[in-house]
Amino acid sequence: MNMTSSAPAKTILFGEHAVVYGEPAIAIPLLNIRTYAKIHPSDKEFRLISENTGMNTTYNELDPASGIKKLLDLLMDELSISNLPPVNLQISSDIPIASGLGSGAALSVAVIREFSQYFQKHLSNERINEIAFEIEKIYHGFPSGIDNTTITYETPIIFSKSDGFTRLTADISKLPLLIIDSGIHSETVNVVSDVKKNYDNNKTYIKEIGSLVKTAKEALGNGNLKEIGKLMNENQRLLSQINVSCKELDHYIGIARQNGALGSKLTGAGRGGNFIVLAGDPEHRTQLKSIYESMGLRVFL
Ligand code: PMV
Repeated sequence: MNMTSSAPAKTILFGEHAVVYGEPAIAIPLLNIRTYAKIHPSDKEFRLISENTGMNTTYNELDPASGIKKLLDLLMDELSISNLPPVNLQISSDIPIASGLGSGAALSVAVIREFSQYFQKHLSNERINEIAFEIEKIYHGFPSGIDNTTITYETPIIFSKSDGFTRLTADISKLPLLIIDSGIHSETVNVVSDVKKNYDNNKTYIKEIGSLVKTAKEALGNGNLKEIGKLMNENQRLLSQINVSCKELDHYIGIARQNGALGSKLTGAGRGGNFIVLAGDPEHRTQLKSIYESMGLRVFL
């Protein structure tokens, strides 16, 4: 029997936004938070069904400007099919949308993998990544490609637009990290476009973020938690300078620091969405988790 296809969320540890301008950034997949796609045969026309949003629609009813419509069109071309078959494409996801965890790229990659399996046409990771990147242009405006790459290859990476990605050998899964959802939705395309509008004011900070990422790669390699935390705080300061934080994120990040976290910063586009916190050790991580959960926030470990 064919398995359900899926793709993970991702979190950017260092370098979001600056990566759009050619600087390096570091991201890791969140393997336990996933989007699932499954094709079920049906005797009626093609339908897209989303468990999370309640969407239940035919291909013709889809918004022509939407990412999912464009993705279905690209897949028909790629697989040389002129019409979608009579099936239900069922989507479900654990990843919060518009929250900095790459929900758009995960949806694309899960659907591409499911089509490839259903039509029995092997697509390499490289090709899957290229197709997902085309859809990122709709979600992000000017995507760097870091989301689709981390999510396709499901491995921690350092990435830049010119050099592509290198897998990180450091055992990042051992970091006592928390990923916390502020609950505020923020559309990546809007934040990326504001940073671009103010590029002249932002460019010094963008360069500083780029050099910080290189230091962070060393610190991750050495497993130097204190240094990693310090760099997270510094990255957050620079992200505030380019105006992608917001008062709620500043408040939640402040709580991490008041409670002894080694570092904390927003992750992804910012102005809401998720933030990450580095605890001192696993026990401290459990304490921080309780603090945020008691405030009604969703915490991922
Ligand atoms: O908010 P997300 O998960 O879509 O991540 C966006 C990351 C940015 O650096 C802000 C944009 C990009 O394409 O790299």
